[in-house]
Amino acid sequence: MAYLKKLLKNTLYLSTALLLMTNRTTWAALEPRAPFKPPTAEQMPTGPVGDSIRRGENILSHTKTALPDYVGNRLNCTSCHLDGGRTANAGPFVGIWGVFPEYRSRNAKVNELRDRVNDCFERSLNGKRLPTDSPALADILTYMWWVSRGVPTGVSVEGRGFKRVPAHTADAARGKQLYAQKCALCHGPNGEGTYGEHQEMLFPPVWGKDSFNIGAGLARLDTAAAFLKWNMPRNQGGTLTDQEAYDLAQYVTHQPRPDFAGKTHDWPKGDKPPDARY
Ligand code: HEC
Ligand code: HEC
Repeated sequence: MAYLKKLLKNTLYLSTALLLMTNRTTWAALEPRAPFKPPTAEQMPTGPVGDSIRRGENILSHTKTALPDYVGNRLNCTSCHLDGGRTANAGPFVGIWGVFPEYRSRNAKVNELRDRVNDCFERSLNGKRLPTDSPALADILTYMWWVSRGVPTGVSVEGRGFKRVPAHTADAARGKQLYAQKCALCHGPNGEGTYGEHQEMLFPPVWGKDSFNIGAGLARLDTAAAFLKWNMPRNQGGTLTDQEAYDLAQYVTHQPRPDFAGKTHDWPKGDKPPDARY
């Protein structure tokens, strides 16, 4: 009798495990996530490694000034990866060190972290890829390594990327109205951004020639809605409804912005997501 009970129990475990493994969504939900704990300033190493981390942080938040030859618009990395990539659901760099290499369907390759960084140089900053032996790239990666300290290799943090919003049918006309009410003050009535008396950028452009190109992640409706919902207006994240985030995303992503020449090579396996702009 005891034997029979044990057999029954084992069969139950086995079938549950099989069910979980075949159902990919359930499986993904079960993937362990590390808590979001960026290091504090006191945990900054001293000496050459600390110097490299500080240089990396400076490049990420003043990318245009630090690397004018590699940035084709007026944005910095931290225009989207807020607070130096130390805020959850705002494209954090916390934990990013240990999750690459990663397969990405956009180029159907296994990408190293430096490839991913360069993707944002080419698309989000509408610029050029840094050479692999570039000291600036080494500093950026050293900074990402530091903010990832303590996160186990292969494990994503809670709040990685931009938190998704349930899809809504978007209305660009409503988005246009909302933009005038809630966004134009900082980003300008024509999405051009706002600038100080020495032409220094105060608030970043959101469309037009100085914005991210159509190949950027933020040019996609779902990604833009996710970014806006939790992060805009700046310091008032979470105040837009899901519908408003979608309406605004529809309006902003469909405004004119630079083209991306390399777009013809994207999604070579034909699995282009429906919200891509090309
Ligand atoms: C216009 C907004 C924008 C700018 C500017 C930008 N990025 Fe990104 N970045 C994104 C988006 C959107 C994603 C995709 C996030 C997702 O898929 O959830 C991303 C993803 C990444 C990732 C992978 C994150 C992950 O969790 O897998 C890295 C690393 C990265 N960016 C680095 C950079 C660096 C370095 C710069 C500056 C050279 C930069 N980004 C500039 C929008 C931007
Ligand atoms: C109080 C000023 C302010 C308001 C209002 C505001 N933003 Fe922003 N926004 C910012 C700042 C500042 C950043 C860059 C992040 C940083 O530097 O910390 C940013 C970044 C962005 C970005 C990513 C970078 C880029 O330029 O493409 C987008 C897109 C964006 N905002 C859209 C919006 C939308 C849409 C609204 C209206 C719901 C809005 N913002 C309201 C200040 C503001």
